[in-house]
This record gives sequence, C-alpha cells and structure tokens, in this order.
Amino acid sequence: MSLTVLQHPVILEKLTVLRDKNTDSSRFRTLLGEISALMVYEMTRAMHVVETVVETPVGTHRGAVCADPVTLVPILRAGLGMSDAILRILPRARVGHIGCYRDHDTLEPHFYYDKLPTNVADSAVFVLDPMLATGGSASATLTRLKEHGCTQLRLVCLVGAPEGVKVIEDAHPDVPIFLAALDERLNELGYIVPGLGDAGDRIFGTH
Ligand code: PRP
Ligand code: URA
Repeated sequence: MSLTVLQHPVILEKLTVLRDKNTDSSRFRTLLGEISALMVYEMTRAMHVVETVVETPVGTHRGAVCADPVTLVPILRAGLGMSDAILRILPRARVGHIGCYRDHDTLEPHFYYDKLPTNVADSAVFVLDPMLATGGSASATLTRLKEHGCTQLRLVCLVGAPEGVKVIEDAHPDVPIFLAALDERLNELGYIVPGLGDAGDRIFGTH
C-alpha cells in the first residue's frame, strides 16, 4: 500500500479557503482546479520517460517525453471539478467517465454511467474524486476499472478520511493513494470532518 499526503504551504492555503463555508461556487471551482493541477506534480512522479532529442538555438539537448499513455477517470459529478485542470497539464491524456452516487441513507455506491476509452487497460489510469469518505465509491470504481483490465491505477482525492483510506488499502493494496489532506474522521452521516461539505453541491451550486 502507498499513501501520499501532499504537504505544501500553497496547497494548504488554497485548501483552507476551499473548506471555508463562505466560499462561493465560482471560487470553489477555481480553487479545486488549482489544487488538482498542483497535485499532478506528485501523482505523476513515477511515470516513465523516454529520451527525445531537440535542437535548441545553441546546441543539441537530450531531453525526455512522458512515455505512459494516461487516462483520467473523474467520478461524476464532483470528479469533473478536477479533470479539466489536470487535462491542461497533461493535454495528451484521455478521459473516461464513471457516474456514481452515494445513497444518502445506506452510503452504498450506485453506478449510473460508464464511458471509458478503448484500450484503457494499456494506460496509466488516475481516478479522480475530491472526497474519499467511506471509500465505497472509489473502491467500487477501482473494482470496475480492474474488470476492464486496468492494472496501473492511482486514486487521487483532495480530502480523505482515515476510514476511506483503510477501505482502499484493504480492497486495493496495489493502488497508490494521493491526498491533499487526511482529515480526522467521518461523522454519523458519513461526511468527512472537518472536510468541506458536499463537494458536488458546492461545485455545481445544487444545494
Ligand atoms: C461524493 C464524492 C464521492 C463520494 C464519497 O459524491 O464526490 O464520489 O461522495 O463518498 P464515499 O467515499 O462514502 O463513497 P456523491 O455521491 O455526493 O455524488 P455527486 O458527486 O454526484 O454529488
Ligand atoms: N461526499 C462529499 O461530498 N463530502 C463528504 O464529506 C463525504 C462524501
């Protein structure tokens, strides 16, 4: 198992404003995108590169190009708040979508949409969701991607609860987890404390 919690002053500050209940949807979307883009630096660290040669104005440079094809898989809806920003840093990435919502009473994940690129199994796959609460949605999504043959999976979330991290570590010990913050716990309604509330509602202004 591998858990990386990004500890960086810039991310911490942006996350603090994101969490603030007085931050409106417009600012929330901007900050979510900015933090997601900053996370790319760490979540792609293990990617392979191949050598490529370019001519600079004054000489020859043996440089590098990222070798692994990448697929981003945002979990709808809230994962959409991350994918556009990451796509700006990784413009050659393809995007697959998994529609999944958590039942308010049982907290069980329910799938309603699934559209993945062909040959997704040949790529490094980054599953994106701002929130890792009970871990049910992310775990079920990872299972589904494995059923499609994916083996190079990573889970990227902004805020995680220890309960959710444990669920992923137990069910998917092969999947590295990247978080911007590891919070205290879940409350009795399955919300992360202190968390940031309902990510989808805050992104799309639906509450
Ligand atoms: C939220 C969040 C995750 C899930 C996390 O989505 O974006 O997908 O809950 O909870 P879990 O770890 O306990 O499964 P939600 O079900 O609210 O759907 P939405 O993104 O459409 O709002
Ligand atoms: N989903 C959210 O959007 N927020 C939480 O705190 C838990 C699940």
